[in-house]
Amino acid sequence: MISAIVLAGGAGKRMNSDVSKQYMELAGKPVLHHSIAAFDSHDEIGEIVVVIRKGEEELFEREIFSKQQFRKNIKIVRGGDERSDSVRNGISILDSKSEMVLVHDGARPFLDKSIIDHNISGCRTYGACVTAVPSKDTVKIVSSSGEIVETPDRNTVFLAQTPQTFKTEIVAEALKSVQEEGLAITDDSMAVESLGVKVQIVEGSYENIKLTTPEDMAVGEIIARKRGC
Ligand code: CTP
Ligand code: MG
Repeated sequence: MISAIVLAGGAGKRMNSDVSKQYMELAGKPVLHHSIAAFDSHDEIGEIVVVIRKGEEELFEREIFSKQQFRKNIKIVRGGDERSDSVRNGISILDSKSEMVLVHDGARPFLDKSIIDHNISGCRTYGACVTAVPSKDTVKIVSSSGEIVETPDRNTVFLAQTPQTFKTEIVAEALKSVQEEGLAITDDSMAVESLGVKVQIVEGSYENIKLTTPEDMAVGEIIARKRGC
């Protein structure tokens, strides 16, 4: 079975909004609705787990669940302090038949069928893959005092998005070992990479943005209008 974990367990501090960013309105619907709907309408996804922030269970029920008929059964689990804790909680309630899991930021509402397709076939071929796009800007590696120490060849620089997709047993083991060793990670792939597992990138989209700061909402509205969602 192929599973999807949609993360909505964060505090959204950088969005600086009264309502958590996953429930802010985008094209007339909450951000999180769009992220769940992409998985709900994809035939190969067998189960969807949504990770919800502590205290936001009723908000989820009212704003997402009661307003929309999803085709699939949506399972809910509470988020943790760190993103990796939230993913671990999501993994803990996956079906015992889950073989592959797509982990996705709920704050990234513009994923589409082709990105999900790339992830599923990438994981079937390589066992682990991350959605990514080529960096349009030159990246500088900088010291703590602000001095540039390295300029990587731009052709080798990609920006990681989600979904990030893994064989379920691999990511479960990787997140367990990260917790045991106290490693700080910013995405799931880092956990899997730390096991020495090779991770392949698959094609993302410049529209698959993460809504992080207030100006992203304005960009999001433009993308939503263009797509007619
Ligand atoms: N996330 C989560 N549990 C956490 C932290 C983050 O489920 N403890 C989720 C967020 O809900 C979001 C995704 O991970 O969908 C990407 O994280 P980010 O954009 O950093 O969201 P927040 O952590 O909510 O925002 P901020 O860092 O600005 O507080
Ligand atoms: Mg965060």
